[in-house]
Formats: sequence, C-alpha cells, structure tokens
Amino acid sequence: MSQTVNLRIYRRDPDLDKAGKYQNYQIELQPGQTVLMALYHLLENVDKSLAFRASCRSAVCGSCGMHINGKNRLACETQLAPLGNEVVIEPLPHLPVLKDLVVDMTTFWDKYERVRPYLISLKEPPEKERKQSVEDRKKIDEYIDCILCACCHSSCSLDWWDKDYLGPAALGKMYRFVADSRDEGEIERLKIVASEEGVFRCHTLFNCTEECPKRISPTFAIQQMKKKIMFAKLTGKL
Ligand code: FES
Repeated sequence: MSQTVNLRIYRRDPDLDKAGKYQNYQIELQPGQTVLMALYHLLENVDKSLAFRASCRSAVCGSCGMHINGKNRLACETQLAPLGNEVVIEPLPHLPVLKDLVVDMTTFWDKYERVRPYLISLKEPPEKERKQSVEDRKKIDEYIDCILCACCHSSCSLDWWDKDYLGPAALGKMYRFVADSRDEGEIERLKIVASEEGVFRCHTLFNCTEECPKRISPTFAIQQMKKKIMFAKLTGKL
C-alpha cells in the first residue's frame, strides 16, 4: 500500500521575505527513497524554485547537511521511511540563510582556515611520499573521515553565542594534524587553540559528537588537545 508523506520545508528568499515560512508538499513514498531524492523529485516535478545544496549523493562531499526532524543530518543518506508521515526539513541552524535550505558557510570556512589544515613539516620533502605506519594512520582515521558538512559546527551552542570560538569542526580538523605522526607543527598549532577562543571554550556538551553523521567525536579531539596543552605548559614548551 502506498504511503503519503508530508514534507514541511522551510522556504526563504532573503530578497523577498524578512521572515521565512514553511511550505507543505505531499509525496508518495518510494522504496529506498532518501530525503535528498525527495527534494530532487520536488525540484524536478513540482517546484523549480526550491533551493538546496547537494553533489555526490553518497555521503562523501558534505554538501547536503540540513536539519531534518530536529536533527542535523545528511539528506543523501537519510532514509525517508523511518521518519514518519510528517518530515520537517530546515536549513542548518544558526547559519545565515541564503535561500531556502542553503546557508552561508563563510564563518565555517574562516574558522577552518585559522587552524592551518595542512601538514607542517620542517624536513626536506621526500622523493616520493611521507610514509606512515598502519598503527599511526589508525590514530587519525576517524578525523580524516570528516567531510566538512558543518553538522557539528551548527549544533554547537557555544559556537552560536561566541562567534570567535573556533568550534568543533575546525578543532577536530586541527586534532587530525596534531595527532598525525608526520606533522611537526604541534606547538605552533597548540598556540592557536590554547585560548578562550580555542579548546577551553568547549564545555563538553557533546552536541557536536551526537550530530556528526560520520560518528566522529570532536569532543574527544578537543579534550586530547587540552591535555597536550597542559603537558606542553608543564614542560615549558608552551
Ligand atoms: S550530497 Fe554529498 S554528502 Fe550528501
């Protein structure tokens, strides 16, 4: 028997509306249909003005983060069927809306840039590659998996009220390099985050960890860096 789902979608064109509104669309649920598939169905068949971001459709590019039934999720990997007959789809919270489900990611990328998200090495570049043992690679596997979808960034209430706070996404990325056996910029990096705008702003609320679609824990990364900072201070390196 076919099932009808009501998609209640946040709509806003900042040039036309000061406040946004919700628009309802009824669709017939298809087997295996994801939220993203439903949005494409609406865009192609019902309402060409609907705006959302997506690219890979396979939980790799990080474009389709949105707030679905009260939780930040990737639309492309979220199955519609378990969400019930009424599905509320909103843009990621606490980011300026450019149009409908598309948010302005400027602050996210600014913070990402501040943590120097690349390998720092003082040695001469090797002829072929910088090798790493399997064990050392395992230590950073989780953080390499981050797809920069901003689901954690937009879920952090500390990030909402302190715009200078680097936030969970940038700090998780920082830890990816701090914990990388090939990186030689640890002290330089810890100096960036040893402040109220860095790791000490985190109050260990775990919102970021709960909302990460890749099941990465920025909270753990932040706590590890707090320990490293204390150790570096005790040993006079910081
Ligand atoms: S479309 Fe790429 S992560 Fe969803």
